[in-house]
Amino acid sequence: MADYYLQIDRINVRYGDIQVLWDVSFEAQKGEIIALVGSNGAGKSTSVKAAAGLVPTFGGHIRIDGQDLTGGTCRRFIDHGIILCPEGRQLFPQMTVYENLEMGACSKESAARKKETVEKIFTWFPKLKERQKQLAGTLSGGEQQMVAFSRGLMGLPKVLMMDEPSLGLAPNIVDDIFHIARQISREDGLTVVLVEQDVRKALKLANRGYVLENGVINIKGTAEELLNNEEVKKAYLGI
Ligand SMILES: Nc1ncnc2c1ncn2[C@@H]1O[C@H](COP(=O)(O)OP(=O)(O)OP(=O)(O)O)[C@@H](O)[C@H]1O
Ligand SMILES: [Mg+2]
Repeated sequence: MADYYLQIDRINVRYGDIQVLWDVSFEAQKGEIIALVGSNGAGKSTSVKAAAGLVPTFGGHIRIDGQDLTGGTCRRFIDHGIILCPEGRQLFPQMTVYENLEMGACSKESAARKKETVEKIFTWFPKLKERQKQLAGTLSGGEQQMVAFSRGLMGLPKVLMMDEPSLGLAPNIVDDIFHIARQISREDGLTVVLVEQDVRKALKLANRGYVLENGVINIKGTAEELLNNEEVKKAYLGI
């Protein structure tokens, strides 16, 4: 446990009087891709929001590279390279693709390296280069997801949390995005936390996975173990 780069260690979250996460733990090595799966309302988005410092937790700890960020401001999480690509993309529709990307360079270091990061992103997604002046609200769903993912990369993440990137997209676009996420994790040691409804797809990309049910992690294992787990097969893979 002590060796993991990212450690979410028994966190709890409540909204008002209602507790929605119960001692949730997940962890990842540097450069590892983990998947967080589960049904609607299980607490997946809450888990990644909490891990990114966007909702308060009680009990438990959130650590990155040995540093305890528990209770810190979201600014502190960003400065430590923990970045969330939120569910539903949350782009600025009246701003151009380029301006949306710029918004992602929100730490001091990423702001200083903004131009070089944009150039890198344009080599991965040539389409965004072509459309850099187009208003984000007029892009197709797939293009918008490329912008949302790229905006996350603009912050020079060490840990990138992606909340349901595949929602409503054609499989080939999702494959493109996953392929690039895999490449960056291999080459630059980016750690990825992927929240997905498409459990099969998520476990094909991820090294390991966690199944969240009613705010509790009930099953965890390597991607292969989960793909062969009878409970997972029945509940999430339709086998
Ligand atoms: N801001 C909020 N205020 C009150 N309750 C909330 C809030 N956000 C989420 N919840 C509740 O917390 C629970 C977990 O929600 P969450 O969005 O984390 O689930 P999820 O697993 O991401 O679901 P989905 O697959 O539908 O995106 C749900 O019961 C939801 O109604
Ligand atoms: Mg969600």
